[in-house]
Amino acid sequence: MIIREFVPNDLKRVCEIEKMSFDESYELNMFKQLYDIGAGFLVAEDDGYVVGYVLFWIKYENEGHIISLAVDKDYQRKQAGTKLLLKAINVLSLFKINKILLEVNENNEGAIEFYKKFNFEVDRKVPHYYNNGDGAIVMYLPVKV
Ligand SMILES: CC(C)(COP(=O)(O)OP(=O)(O)OC[C@H]1O[C@@H](n2cnc3c(N)ncnc32)[C@H](O)[C@@H]1OP(=O)(O)O)[C@@H](O)C(=O)NCCC(=O)NCCS
Repeated sequence: MIIREFVPNDLKRVCEIEKMSFDESYELNMFKQLYDIGAGFLVAEDDGYVVGYVLFWIKYENEGHIISLAVDKDYQRKQAGTKLLLKAINVLSLFKINKILLEVNENNEGAIEFYKKFNFEVDRKVPHYYNNGDGAIVMYLPVKV
């Protein structure tokens, strides 16, 4: 399994993974626009097949943000998520940020456990964050400047 930069040819496959992973998923154009404006975009590739991706950027001057991270259900628990997240943290840490933030559905216990493993802490809950009424947990990782 390798982690490499996203290329536009990956777009359809990334959207496929996004759709299988989230009830409310980003549309293809959203990915394209974020890529075009320079957001960080990495994919995990297993034997030439894209099995996961992470999208991230600097949201405010001193704040990194994981926009989306997902691994194909058939390839989960094989460390693809770990490799994607660690690489994204490494890249974001090159900038003068003091934390990395993300939002996760409050019912997504697996992902919350996953992020806690990398020392992400719960910042706050945001009720009704998603269109279906589910709340979000905002999590953050302090980063030493
Ligand atoms: C969260 C997600 C990205 C994890 O990816 P993954 O490749 O399966 O994760 P890894 O194999 O690197 O897991 C590393 C560790 O995190 C923890 N972990 C991962 N998934 C977990 C789960 N469902 N439940 C509990 N712990 C979990 C475990 O400690 C795991 O180590 P182990 O397999 O040795 O027990 C993946 O489950 C996913 O894409 N989910 C759907 C989309 C999503 O929820 N994205 C994040 C919200 S923004």
